[in-house]
Amino acid sequence: VRKGDIDKGFTQADRIVEAEFETPCQEHYYLEPQGCLVFPEEDGQVKVVGSLQCPFYVQKAVARALGLPLKQVHVEQAPTGGAFGGKEDLPSELCARVAVAAKVMNRPVKMVYTRSEDIQLTSKRHPFKMKYRVGITREGKLMAAEVLLEENAGAYATLSTVVSYRAAAQALGPYVVPNVKVDSKSYYTNLPPNGAFRGFGSPQAAFGHERMMDIIAAEIQMDPVEFRLKNIVRPGEETSTGQQLKDGVGAEDTLRKAANISRWKWFQPGVTAEGRYLKGLGMSTVHYGNCLGAAGWHMDGAGVKLQLHEDGTVSVAFGLVEMGQGALTVVVQMVAEALGVSPHRVQVLPTSTRHVPDSGPSVASRNVVMTGNAIKDAVRKLLPILEEAAANLLECAVDNVNIAEDKVVDVTTGNQVTFEELVRFLFQSNRPVEVQGWWHVRALEYDPQQGLGEAYFAYSFATHVAEVRVDRLTGQVYVDRIWAVHDVGRAINPAGVEGQVEGGTAQGTGWALMERFLYQEGAVLTSNLSTYLLPTVQDVAQVDTVIVEALEPEGPWGAKGIGEPAIIPTAAAIVNAVSSAVGVQVGELPLTPEKILSILDGSTQWETPVKK
Ligand code: MOS
Repeated sequence: VRKGDIDKGFTQADRIVEAEFETPCQEHYYLEPQGCLVFPEEDGQVKVVGSLQCPFYVQKAVARALGLPLKQVHVEQAPTGGAFGGKEDLPSELCARVAVAAKVMNRPVKMVYTRSEDIQLTSKRHPFKMKYRVGITREGKLMAAEVLLEENAGAYATLSTVVSYRAAAQALGPYVVPNVKVDSKSYYTNLPPNGAFRGFGSPQAAFGHERMMDIIAAEIQMDPVEFRLKNIVRPGEETSTGQQLKDGVGAEDTLRKAANISRWKWFQPGVTAEGRYLKGLGMSTVHYGNCLGAAGWHMDGAGVKLQLHEDGTVSVAFGLVEMGQGALTVVVQMVAEALGVSPHRVQVLPTSTRHVPDSGPSVASRNVVMTGNAIKDAVRKLLPILEEAAANLLECAVDNVNIAEDKVVDVTTGNQVTFEELVRFLFQSNRPVEVQGWWHVRALEYDPQQGLGEAYFAYSFATHVAEVRVDRLTGQVYVDRIWAVHDVGRAINPAGVEGQVEGGTAQGTGWALMERFLYQEGAVLTSNLSTYLLPTVQDVAQVDTVIVEALEPEGPWGAKGIGEPAIIPTAAAIVNAVSSAVGVQVGELPLTPEKILSILDGSTQWETPVKK
């Protein structure tokens, strides 16, 4: 990213603060390991059934491996026990190998990794090294920022270039910075490959910019909330890539609400009454570019197929997948809402490449936005047919037909037929009963040379506040509460949003406090749950979720994504809280008891070097 003139920006700054950070690997630990079945079919075709996120990636990979045209490879997603990004690119490799075996032996072949194989063979979250140099005015306005992000890609690049892209675009968070230089680089290493993991470079970048915001606030002796509010991006202002944001900008709202509900102003950090614990409160504010952005724009379209059955039920096929995030529920809700029928009429089919055109990958918190807009498109095509048929049936003008809550009504006379009767009439009168919907993200104005412009078409925003206690005796960090305020545009399913936020917070807590992925000479040492520690219910805070709805004009019903924003701010909020509690600017994860003790006894090498 090259915006403005950083030399001039630094000259205009009254203070320049520099700091370095490092974040580690993270293993997805989805409950169901990678696995697939491949069936040879008639006429040389193959059918793949697997635990996966991206059926169309798998279709392309298998077709290429077998030298078949796409139409001869059918991929169906099996109900998938978690993915979190870990089943984005890996299944392509696994399914291609299994497909070769099935083809050679001409019989069905199944392959399921054991947990240990899975952990050794699959990608993790990229470890990052980050250098921030930021200039601010005496009043606390950000003037210039120079950022270097360096990512450990492991032995294969897989998705590293796209992770680099997202991290660079979001490296300065939801703040206004007039002069910016960001470099984001991935390096090959002789280690297991790193790739997609919920947030896709965002939790790492958020750790950088949110630690930085707290460090600067401390340097200029300003309250971290006040400092953030001075710089937060508001409607009409530009992001660090020079993208002017118009509507759907809830950043400030999440920040203010989080400060209010966490009683930020009244919190007293320091030693608890009995003397054993140090208390701290920490905040983190983030943005997340929805969908694939300018770098992936060419494949940022998705489809649905709606089919009406003669009993008045509706089946819907969509091109993205359910992997535990609640996609099926929101797809049912959106179809029911758009068509004017009750949800029990709607059934979602298993995702298959047979039903809909290539809808791209199920990643980047895309489902609600892409599938929702495709559903609206399908219904836009279907409704005129239904209304015209209803007018025929009710012997009234088309304009007087209203379809809502399973009833088809002539609003002038009150005459009505049921939805079943209407659908049966479609069949009897040779009208279409099946329709495709499609939605592609509009063209984005983006300059890839300068890294400037519309990096993404829309943004979700969030602020987390963490309250922690640090045990001075054992070094243990307890996260007592997290207040999580998320701007999701329209919350299609508020309970689902809350579920995502709680899950993301738990996963972010693991990354912050305990997860350590270790190797020796490239061999994985932590390939099971006795060596790779995940948070349990005992380790996860009480989470108070608050939803902010800054409606996105290009989202369906105003909706934006929540899957990844749920995890992004958590670790930075926890580390900001711990830094405030212990009085040391912590620059690394995870905050294990050993590391905390080494900070408390002053022996650490682990505090971030802050230059003023
Ligand atoms: Mo995701 S980490 O965009 O599969």
